Amino acid sequence: MSKLITRRSVMAAGAAGAVGTLTTLPISMVRLAFGGTRDDFTFTYISDAHIQQIKGASFVRNWDMGLKRAVAEANLIQPESDFVMFGGDLAQLGKKDELDHGGEILSHLSSKLHCVMGEHDYYFDLGEYWSKLYGPQYYSFDHKGVHFVVLNSILTFDEWTFRRWPTAEQRMQEMAGLDNPNSSPFMVGEKQRNWLREDLAKISHETPIVVFSHSPLQKIYKGWNFWTDDAEEVQALLQPFNSVNVIYGHVHQIQYNQIGNISFNSVMATAWPWPYPQSYAQAESHLPVLTVPMNRGDPFFERDATGWQLIDVNSGRVAARYQLWDNEPRTVAFDHKQGRPVDLAFQEPTNRRLPQSHY
Ligand SMILES: [Fe+2]
Ligand SMILES: [Fe+2]
Repeated sequence: MSKLITRRSVMAAGAAGAVGTLTTLPISMVRLAFGGTRDDFTFTYISDAHIQQIKGASFVRNWDMGLKRAVAEANLIQPESDFVMFGGDLAQLGKKDELDHGGEILSHLSSKLHCVMGEHDYYFDLGEYWSKLYGPQYYSFDHKGVHFVVLNSILTFDEWTFRRWPTAEQRMQEMAGLDNPNSSPFMVGEKQRNWLREDLAKISHETPIVVFSHSPLQKIYKGWNFWTDDAEEVQALLQPFNSVNVIYGHVHQIQYNQIGNISFNSVMATAWPWPYPQSYAQAESHLPVLTVPMNRGDPFFERDATGWQLIDVNSGRVAARYQLWDNEPRTVAFDHKQGRPVDLAFQEPTNRRLPQSHY
């Protein structure tokens, strides 16, 4: 771990020197460190940019700036990370202009890019243009002893997708709302689950598995679609493996959980944070009891809880070092004695920094 801290400090110092006032990086840098025979390596995680067109060439500046900042700082990491994951919701309303604009910003990344499908990318044209830009919506790859799986977890029932809404725009708008009762639960679906079963059949149970999804592959809060309807069926396919990590976006907040052998870590957005569902008093919350809520005393402090993660998969388990833009870093690490992730550095309210003037 000391090696990891040193590395991060160097990275942060490099960023501060290059871009002035920055002391933390708004990206998710993921470190996979192994004590055994595997090579250590890092990858960077950027998620939920929500690039939003206002009109013509005019886009919401804050969301643009979040993604630009993440990309610029990802390029400063030394040594360079092996690849970049983008965790979905590149666009706000799935428009070609939004995907093109976000894609242009992402094109400045110096590392190879892998992408996850988000519901904001999908429900306008059902992923057609996104797939032209980024290829398959679910796939796997192996990298330095780790098996990585990317799933499209934001599909839903055919009736909702193909028949309920008169226009593509309305379908997109209905799915884009946080607490819209007309929304529909996300799911991976039988076709992808069958693909996943076949994909995993080739993998040794000792191989660490890292799964990327957009929605959590666990049931947290249905009212906000922090939910994947067939989560248990996906989890069952992952249970035979010794160490499984699911990393997801969509929730725009720090969450973690342990279900059986599967460790769950969310990543933060570059756009805005969502509050925790406990703050929504109209319905019962299913947020896992292990999760420590963020300190967000000021709901207008919009950059609190946006940022990036440095994740160390030591012995195949994730330790996520959350670097918040305008708050103290937090670490959620797998504790081998307790067999679950624990929050090692929960931020106290008195540690909060003032928002930076340019955000
Ligand atoms: Fe999002
Ligand atoms: Fe999302």
